[in-house]
Amino acid sequence: MRVLVTGGAGFIGSCFVKYILNKYSNYELINLDALTYCGNLDNLKEIENNSNYHFIKGNICDSKLVKEITKDVDFIVNFAAESHVDNSIKNPQIFIETNVKGTMNLLEAAKENHIKRFLQVSTDEVYGSLGSEGYFYETTPLAPNSPYSASKASADLLVRAYYETYKLPVVITRCSNNYGPYQYPEKLIPFFISKLLKDEKIPIYGDGMNIRDWLYVEDHCSAIDCVLHNAKDGEIYNIGGHNEKTNIEISHIILEIMGKNENYIEFVADRLGHDRRYAISNKKITTKLGWTPKVNFEEGIKNTINWYLNNQDWIKNIENKKAETK
Ligand SMILES: NC(=O)c1ccc[n+]([C@@H]2O[C@H](COP(=O)([O-])OP(=O)(O)OC[C@H]3O[C@@H](n4cnc5c(N)ncnc54)[C@H](O)[C@@H]3O)[C@@H](O)[C@H]2O)c1
Repeated sequence: MRVLVTGGAGFIGSCFVKYILNKYSNYELINLDALTYCGNLDNLKEIENNSNYHFIKGNICDSKLVKEITKDVDFIVNFAAESHVDNSIKNPQIFIETNVKGTMNLLEAAKENHIKRFLQVSTDEVYGSLGSEGYFYETTPLAPNSPYSASKASADLLVRAYYETYKLPVVITRCSNNYGPYQYPEKLIPFFISKLLKDEKIPIYGDGMNIRDWLYVEDHCSAIDCVLHNAKDGEIYNIGGHNEKTNIEISHIILEIMGKNENYIEFVADRLGHDRRYAISNKKITTKLGWTPKVNFEEGIKNTINWYLNNQDWIKNIENKKAETK
């Protein structure tokens, strides 16, 4: 099998690239990544010399390049995206370019080249926000609240349309918040860890009671692998681990593991349109495809913090790069 992974130098994509190459020794994998500010080839050092792995620096919006690359490809797994909600509030345009037009380009290339499966990596944020009860199901209406989630929902609708109109063999996954090693330190957990490593306070939006449903990144990758190989065309699968935590709970867990006290917490003005609660029902993927998450939160968060403590150069390199481009 030849698999095209887009965005494979990012947090989840790089974990998926390593996961697939380790699991399927006969698969060839092409990683197409534009290496935007959060794409990082340091994430892929352990497989960079694998003869089944090929890296192409390029943009999913480049239709000529994408059509060329997809010629002999069996599967496309689309991770490439602008992924940070705060950035989408400041500058929504690039989110439409990459997340919507880029996905459209990939769908066109997939159609032209008769690929066997197109997997769109989406997010639970397309469903909007929940009250204190209930879960997101695959049938929950789309109600995105940020430019980021609106761009992801738009892409999902295009993917669905290519199935309905052209019978393109597509499948969509919608996962909850991920955490784990190699996550760019703009996202909540690595942001808090990197602040505490510098002995700085951690800023918490609003009252800190926003709830997210956390999943360890390798569990997300095993779920995508399961869907890629076993799902029915045209289906949507939610992915989550039933691990709801408020942001304030997350901060307390990190403070405790890092040996810091509550004085390191600083409440700041809330994010615009901040969704209150996300919680995923994973019933469909667990009952229909037999997938289950393996890493519990206590173990996963310890692994994650230890990884950041042992890989402080990884964060420093990112900070140096940021300083150079300012
Ligand atoms: N992080 C989460 O908690 C989470 C949860 C659910 C779904 N997702 C989805 O998973 C995917 C990956 O998320 P992530 O957290 O790894 O993101 P990330 O920001 O760490 O990585 C994104 C990658 O895409 C690349 N990229 C960006 N624009 C590109 C373009 N135009 N062409 C080619 N490559 C481009 C970047 O260089 C980077 O390597 C996204 O589609 C995101 O919506 C993320």
